[in-house]
Amino acid sequence: MAHLAEQPTLLAGEGWDDYGLVDSGNGRKLERYGPFRFVRPEPQAMWSPRLADWQADGEFVPGSDEDGGGRWQFARPVPAECWPLAWDDVRFTAQCTPFRHLGFFPDMAPVWEWMRGQLAGTEDAQALNLFGYTGVGSLALSSCGPVTHVDASKKSVAQARTNAALSAMEERPVRWLIDDAAKFAAREVRRGKRYDGIILDPPKFGRGPNGETWRIEEHLAPLVADCRQLLDADSRFLFLTVYAVRMSSLALAGLLAELFADLPGTIEHGDLAVREEGEGARLLPTAIFARWSNPG
Ligand SMILES: C[S@@+](CC[C@H](N)C(=O)[O-])C[C@H]1O[C@@H](n2cnc3c(N)ncnc32)[C@H](O)[C@@H]1O
Repeated sequence: MAHLAEQPTLLAGEGWDDYGLVDSGNGRKLERYGPFRFVRPEPQAMWSPRLADWQADGEFVPGSDEDGGGRWQFARPVPAECWPLAWDDVRFTAQCTPFRHLGFFPDMAPVWEWMRGQLAGTEDAQALNLFGYTGVGSLALSSCGPVTHVDASKKSVAQARTNAALSAMEERPVRWLIDDAAKFAAREVRRGKRYDGIILDPPKFGRGPNGETWRIEEHLAPLVADCRQLLDADSRFLFLTVYAVRMSSLALAGLLAELFADLPGTIEHGDLAVREEGEGARLLPTAIFARWSNPG
């Protein structure tokens, strides 16, 4: 029976050559993405900034609606298309998207590393990445075996393929699928498929490629139940992250505890955070997570 570790775990990411959280405070954060610095809104940074100098190449100025709207303002020229970055052996591009992101989620870096660790020593591990976006996590996992990458957005999957080419990983066995995550998982269950590891990084609200509605409060539990059916006692992990939702990591862990009651392993939960660079090195929380792991 999977053991639920009640005490929360902190999964804190550090900066690396191509990314860093330079400072945060007063509801904003200053980050570096390769040679460029950007300021973005960050409601959780309620403290004061440490640095006086917040010069940046661009700033995302939010609209009046917290969940959407707003636009980039540039102080210096930033490539309109994109520019190259790397995390470990994965290469990809960053771009200032209208959704205030930069085309990948740097706070996921410790998750990519943890997943690789869970699959270490397995041969040809089968991994599934639901809501895989631009594919950095899928490419990170592809060093461990075949990966199925699912995302509803044609544009994100096209970008993921471009990132695979940029990483010289086009020959890796990754299936790049434009599909609705919930429908795909249900179909895999009917086909009797199994995986060694599953990552789910769902948004609060989304749409499948045929207009299917994704609402986290309504659809998360059935999707995780399907994911459980795709794992067995030889599988290694399930990693679930949730952003900007009124939910506790303990609630996510409770869901996993129920669904994984008949499998061995451990369930942990807690905050995902990014550590600031420099003195002080404060932690900025970015998401909550729950994960099941099974050393096998
Ligand atoms: C939070 S992002 C994932 C970030 C990614 N895991 C990473 O670290 O780079 C959410 C993604 O979910 C996708 N999405 C939204 N609704 C979906 C659905 N119903 N089925 C599949 N993907 C969906 C969006 O296209 C978007 O790429």
